[in-house]
Amino acid sequence: VDLSTVDLSDRDWWARPPQERHAALDRLRAERPFAFFAEPDLPGIPAGPGYHAVTRYADLETISSQPGLFCSGRGAVSMQDVPAELHEFYGSLISMDDPRHAKIRRIVSKTFTPRMLERTLDSVRAVVDDVLARARVTAEAHGGVLDVVPDLAAPIPLRVICDMMGVPEEDRSRVLACSNIVLSGGDPDLIEDDDPLTAFLTAGMEMAALMERLAAERLADPREDLTTALVTTEVDGERLTSQEIASFFILLLVAGNETTRNAISQGLLALSEWPEERARWAADPSLDRTAVEEVVRWVSPVTWMRRTATRDGEVGGHRFTAGEKFLLFYNAANRDPAVFADPQRFDVGRDPNPHVGFGSRGPHFCLGAHLARRELQVTFRALFDQLPDLEVTGPPDRLRSSFVNGLKHLPARLTGVR
Ligand code: HEM
Repeated sequence: VDLSTVDLSDRDWWARPPQERHAALDRLRAERPFAFFAEPDLPGIPAGPGYHAVTRYADLETISSQPGLFCSGRGAVSMQDVPAELHEFYGSLISMDDPRHAKIRRIVSKTFTPRMLERTLDSVRAVVDDVLARARVTAEAHGGVLDVVPDLAAPIPLRVICDMMGVPEEDRSRVLACSNIVLSGGDPDLIEDDDPLTAFLTAGMEMAALMERLAAERLADPREDLTTALVTTEVDGERLTSQEIASFFILLLVAGNETTRNAISQGLLALSEWPEERARWAADPSLDRTAVEEVVRWVSPVTWMRRTATRDGEVGGHRFTAGEKFLLFYNAANRDPAVFADPQRFDVGRDPNPHVGFGSRGPHFCLGAHLARRELQVTFRALFDQLPDLEVTGPPDRLRSSFVNGLKHLPARLTGVR
């Protein structure tokens, strides 16, 4: 790999084959663990000075476990600092610092009660069974051919989140259309509008309006769903506003949908590339737990999150000044040979597996990790049982995004269908 051709800001660089990306990340980790990259232009948002790419596991842990020194509030999901007028839109939990973050997170996690979670977890199996049955019907109508992304991977997390929030059936097709735009990771192929920022904001506002309507309905007429819990739960006498619920819903769609979708699709891809591992896992349900962790390590659906230094300091031998930006590359840390034996091997029995696919130590650790694990365990087990003849025919069509490690399409067939 010629490091001078590597630009982690370039969305098209990320659409290259994973082997090539990982070879570059390996060299960066070994030779330039705080490599500096310029920010790309984003329409309407001026590019700032650039950022350091953090690729060593230990440095990533040090940074994410010190939120006072490395904050999220200046932007966690964009390389650029977000202009003040867009704060409300981008200003969800993930880009907040304490004390606001702790307070909102407490309200939200109070609503993810064991009972609420158990109900959702029960419904996961029904959703998965239904999606798989429909995928078989689709394949049978097309000579056995199907597309893993729209037919299997995308509908599962979307339906789970809509069930959880209580989104009515008739609104779901709009939620799907809007979330596809918001979740596109900025891939220009997925946004029909000439101006991606406008398309993004319009879709976000449509979803926010839907959620505000739903929140008002639930306040007047409570039900057993997450939206009701979100509008009624109080911490220190404070409730979430309907607008905060709307932005949390968008965060759930973004954080919970695209991630799980890509873990399913690229988990299937990994299994097709490692047939002995597939056979081993399919034959042994006791591997469901470790195998799902390995899928998340291997795929690292979220490529990075950003932190910004609040004062001068030093990390991993790198001296920095206040305002410097750090992108935490989870995919690079997840293949760090200092932590993982034989990191380029996909091993469904890997244990221990302290991957950072759901984030590293710190206050922002994935709120949906428990739910995502259950969705993935149920989905892969059901795939082995109900679609054992599913064969990935590839090649995958990769998302053009530095932020989301995603697939747009993954051709497959059911070999049992004639
Ligand atoms: C945060 C990954 C599924 C909700 C995060 C973070 C990562 C992540 C890397 C940031 C951690 C940090 O900054 O330290 C994933 C992956 C998933 C997944 C790989 C699936 C395989 C879900 C699901 C939900 C969810 C299903 C919700 C239903 C959230 C929320 C946050 C978050 C709300 C923000 C938490 C905060 O800032 O306090 N996730 N996630 N995620 N995730 Fe997930």
